[in-house]
Amino acid sequence: MSNTTRILVTGAGGFIGHHLVKRLKQEGYWVRGVDIKPPEYEDTAADEFQILDLRRWESCLEASENVDEVYNLAADMGGIGYITAFLAGISCNNILINAHMLEASRSNGVKRFLFSSSACVYAQYKQKSADVSPLKEEDAYPADPEPGYGWEKLYAEELCRYYYRDYKFETRIVRFHNVYGPLGTYDGGKEKAPAAISRKVALASGGGHIEIWGDGQQTRSFMYIDDCVEGLIRIMQSDHREPLNLGTDRLVTVDELVDLICGIAGKQLNKRHDLSKPQGVRGRNSDNTRLREVLGWEPAISLEEGLRATYNWIASEIEKKSLVQAAA
Ligand SMILES: NC(=O)c1ccc[n+]([C@@H]2O[C@H](COP(=O)([O-])OP(=O)(O)OC[C@H]3O[C@@H](n4cnc5c(N)ncnc54)[C@H](O)[C@@H]3O)[C@@H](O)[C@H]2O)c1
Repeated sequence: MSNTTRILVTGAGGFIGHHLVKRLKQEGYWVRGVDIKPPEYEDTAADEFQILDLRRWESCLEASENVDEVYNLAADMGGIGYITAFLAGISCNNILINAHMLEASRSNGVKRFLFSSSACVYAQYKQKSADVSPLKEEDAYPADPEPGYGWEKLYAEELCRYYYRDYKFETRIVRFHNVYGPLGTYDGGKEKAPAAISRKVALASGGGHIEIWGDGQQTRSFMYIDDCVEGLIRIMQSDHREPLNLGTDRLVTVDELVDLICGIAGKQLNKRHDLSKPQGVRGRNSDNTRLREVLGWEPAISLEEGLRATYNWIASEIEKKSLVQAAA
């Protein structure tokens, strides 16, 4: 890949897409960003930013015109509350985006196409205990993914593989495990655990309580956004066409995550567990053996460091909002 490469990032108004555009611009690439909405918290760094609905075929043709590489990050998605609530809408929207973006990119002569998949493709029956074994790429089969979001991601992965098999269209497939960081959604219903907990901690008074979804013993691994962006670019540049995990393999319980964030905030809070709320699979971790083999690299930014940056950003956004409200 040289700096004359022209790159399209879809979902560039979203969390990962916005950070990726910034990084690609720092490296000197020409970048087009596309999304159904502009970025929420700061202006895009893209050379061109188009507002398009990528469920529509004509929009996908327009978006992928005259570019060499496509990072397809656009998706209708959110945290566990959101993806378990809207199975039909999420599946239908994402099937349309993925099929249209893949075919439009191929017919426009794009050289490489990266699809952002998810750890939600992994078989649910392999994630029943909190001390779960890390998931290897082959653990997605026999298939039993998350309803809705997981099924459509798994099928889009297959579609990418068929496009290479039948058309020799170069596709890359990345399975993200819980990405977090500044400039990610932290309220409104689409936020994920690190952002939601940071918001609750920032809003709570010391000695008060915060509500935790589930019993707090469910486990996950979390990857900081800068590692995610680094991994994405490395995977795009690699020759690896099969699905690849991109995450960390440090497993923590949700209660441990809360304790870390409370420590950063310097607040002592009581946890109130709400068992009526969705909590997803019991445990999920990333096996990075293949990632290390393929890239000679894996995410390394510590959870403590990443959460500090994330918490500080969310706390400062909340502070800004309350100052604006007080002045109004
Ligand atoms: N963040 C994570 O932890 C995580 C985990 C697994 C997979 N992923 C995948 O990574 C990708 C990026 O995720 P993110 O965290 O940045 O999410 P995000 O919601 O911040 O970004 C997705 C973007 O896609 C856009 N979009 C939705 N429908 C669209 C449409 N019809 N046309 C054009 N744009 C549309 C949204 O407006 C949004 O800006 C997604 O494919 C997601 O499924 C993310």
